Amino acid sequence: MFRSQRTPEAEAYRIKRLREALSDTVITDPLPWAEPVVPMYQEAQVADWRCVPTPELNKAGVGYFRPYNYLPAGWMFEQRVDGEWMRWMSLTPMELESHMPHIAAAWGTVVVAGLGMGFFLYNILRKPKVTRVVVLEKDANLLTLFNKAIRRNCWPHLDKFELWLGDALEFVPEHDVDFLFADIWPYFGDDTALAKTQAIQANIHAKTVGFWGQEWDFVDWLRERDVPDIWKVNRALYRQFCQEVNLPLIEQDSVRYSLLAVSAVIAQVRISTAKAGSEIMKIEPNDYEKLTPMRKQA
Ligand SMILES: C[S@@+](CC[C@H](N)C(=O)[O-])C[C@H]1O[C@@H](n2cnc3c(N)ncnc32)[C@H](O)[C@@H]1O
Repeated sequence: MFRSQRTPEAEAYRIKRLREALSDTVITDPLPWAEPVVPMYQEAQVADWRCVPTPELNKAGVGYFRPYNYLPAGWMFEQRVDGEWMRWMSLTPMELESHMPHIAAAWGTVVVAGLGMGFFLYNILRKPKVTRVVVLEKDANLLTLFNKAIRRNCWPHLDKFELWLGDALEFVPEHDVDFLFADIWPYFGDDTALAKTQAIQANIHAKTVGFWGQEWDFVDWLRERDVPDIWKVNRALYRQFCQEVNLPLIEQDSVRYSLLAVSAVIAQVRISTAKAGSEIMKIEPNDYEKLTPMRKQA
């Protein structure tokens, strides 16, 4: 709903609830990663896929880590499933911010599982440290849509980009891979994400790995280990998680990432429940059960 459609009182109440929801999660220091760059798109449709614009919204909201007061116009890719358009990827602050640590970590020869809008691809092609990018995409119609929807002349270094059409879980490279980024599910917290990433990595043996929404799996792991205070996570716990899931995950040297990860998950849970009209959820140090039901299945 546009802000202009609400009464000023309703909007003030909504913003108050949003601030309450984020009061102990909002990140006040700048994030430790560069801001991503958004490429240009145009409207297009191919079979059951389409690229359509999303409106500018003059309203407050939350990205993945940070709040915002204004949402610029953007684009999204949707797929028609059982007669309904399902959003696979958009350019909201949540999508942009959740890719930031992975964009920052990309280096050398990169394998990207899942093309989507190519937003991640666009941002890593710009990095001098990235020398070659192999994108794994299973849907030929999505690929045709991508080629129709992007403004090719605005894309830097497309010469570094190769596409492999097929199921990412079956890809076996003939070259060394420095970095793997997996994003082949539509919702963060998808409960197949970790297993799919492990399966892809078993064939690829990348030196560094990131997967979209991995923060949800870290929180799940904290719950399984009965870590008594979710707000007191630290780098050692994150490193233990990486070891136990047997993945050389990004951000293992960061002193801030573990808390940023927990904050992101809590903020998303609170915002979703606040939108549904319920009370702002209080999260005590070991309230894991309030976080896990949010995980979505693809
Ligand atoms: C959420 S989008 C990826 C968004 C991407 N990170 C970006 O920056 O735009 C997921 C993509 O993964 C693709 N996909 C889903 N399952 C796949 C699989 N098993 N193998 C390869 N691609 C797959 C989908 O067709 C879709 O293009």
